[in-house]
Amino acid sequence: MNDLSQVSPHACVAQDVRLGTCVRVSAFVNLYGCEVGDDTRIGAFVEVQSGARIGSRCKISSHTFICQGVTIEDEVFVGHGVVFINDRTPHATNPDGQPQSESDWQLEETVVRRRASLGSGAIIMCGVEIGEGAMVGAGALVTHDVPPYAIVAGVPARLRRITTPGFTSAEPKPLESRGAFKKDASPADEPDGSQR
Ligand SMILES: CC(C)(COP(=O)(O)OP(=O)(O)OC[C@H]1O[C@@H](n2cnc3c(N)ncnc32)[C@H](O)[C@@H]1OP(=O)(O)O)[C@@H](O)C(=O)NCCC(=O)NCCS
Repeated sequence: MNDLSQVSPHACVAQDVRLGTCVRVSAFVNLYGCEVGDDTRIGAFVEVQSGARIGSRCKISSHTFICQGVTIEDEVFVGHGVVFINDRTPHATNPDGQPQSESDWQLEETVVRRRASLGSGAIIMCGVEIGEGAMVGAGALVTHDVPPYAIVAGVPARLRRITTPGFTSAEPKPLESRGAFKKDASPADEPDGSQR
């Protein structure tokens, strides 16, 4: 670790972690065998496994899990509680009942390209590429590659639209342009008051 990084005394950072400069690591973070680039911020209760790589100037929000085989490029936003997956068919044991070892399962790698954003609670299935500047909606289940600058959302995630480079969602949409939940129709709502 370098002198310019701020690592909480309550974080667990293994000796083999390669931290860049000015990295901020919050309490109860668990990092081992991974790489974290300059100026990246890591929120509380995040775990990053061996072999995972996180670029520079990223923000990794609390409660996120980043597993082996995941590469996150520079300036990526990862929301709260985002989960990456690297084993499509996980098993605790082999058919003979013995606990599985590293050689008993197949790792599938995932890459998140620069300036992409992953909404809170998203689950990223293994073997996908999330394109540069793409936006993954909160709670999405990403099962396919996401094109650059695409917005995807839902379970499974579907393409909503493609934005342009430099797109920012900082400007909230006016309330009247958003849908509102409709109250269930009750008999009293019927124009003639009739029961149906
Ligand atoms: C998906 C997202 C990027 C907005 O995309 P958008 O295309 O601009 O969506 P809109 O706000 O125009 O909504 C369009 C429709 O998608 C729905 N929608 C919005 N977000 C959704 C989501 N995450 N999952 C499923 N549907 C979503 C809306 O309800 C709306 O449906 P309706 O037309 O039936 O009312 C945004 O809602 C989102 O999830 N952002 C991530 C926020 C986040 O996790 N931040 C983390 C830090 S706090």
